[in-house]
Amino acid sequence: MKKQKIAVLTGAGVSAESGISTFRDANGLWDNYNVEDVATLEGWNRNPALVLDFYNQRRRQLATVKPNAAHLAIASLEDNYDVTVITQNIDNLHERAGSTRIIHLHGELTKVRPENRYNERNGFSEDMVFDIGYGDINLGDTSVDGIQLRPHIVWFGEAVPKIEQAIDVVEAADILLIVGTSLQVYPAAGLYAYAKASTPIYIIDPKDVPVRDGRITHIKSVATVGMEKFIEIISKKDE
Ligand code: APR
Repeated sequence: MKKQKIAVLTGAGVSAESGISTFRDANGLWDNYNVEDVATLEGWNRNPALVLDFYNQRRRQLATVKPNAAHLAIASLEDNYDVTVITQNIDNLHERAGSTRIIHLHGELTKVRPENRYNERNGFSEDMVFDIGYGDINLGDTSVDGIQLRPHIVWFGEAVPKIEQAIDVVEAADILLIVGTSLQVYPAAGLYAYAKASTPIYIIDPKDVPVRDGRITHIKSVATVGMEKFIEIISKKDE
């Protein structure tokens, strides 16, 4: 029998129980760093060393944390469903939990690329991207042709090259699951609107969510608990 398709849109909340700060909760990343300085192209051009240090610190932390039960539960959905994870997160915890189809809308913390733009549309060519694991990138670290390396992260104001791919996944989904995102940053926050009218939408978040849509079931829990409830709900529907 053909497996039902589940699209899983995740944000920082799914990694919170792994010990990684979210952005907009109390004492979140944006309470402690000025987003203009560390997550915009202007900030990079103004002070690249500050930006490199911000991501070096987050990369070092990533080496010390591990996937939590929510990441593992999302990966386990693949046993019975055709799952695609669309994440706003730059950590590699979905990969390390065993998910096999992941779209990183905002880039990946362990990856870097030469800083200058290769083409208008995406601002870079994918073949220039490479993985440095959990190491640091510093001023003077360049590509083979001497161009300064930058984090392979989508900064505010930059293109989100994978958004079309993500829209296709949401449009094709039989179930849409949203875990741990404040739905404040577009275009990711607008993805749910592409789900078919018949597609149920489940949102796992301990706080209230800013969207109103008759298809939404809000599971008001942290991700690890919410995933158990979600799996219980969809398993009952399959009986
Ligand atoms: N389990 C589930 N959800 C949680 C948990 C938890 N343990 N803890 C917090 N949350 C929820 C919060 O209630 C909030 O709705 O996770 C969400 C985190 O929201 P943000 O901090 O805004 O993170 P996110 O939505 O991923 O931000 C989107 O903004 O700064 C940019 O590029 C960055 O990808 C990021 C984007």
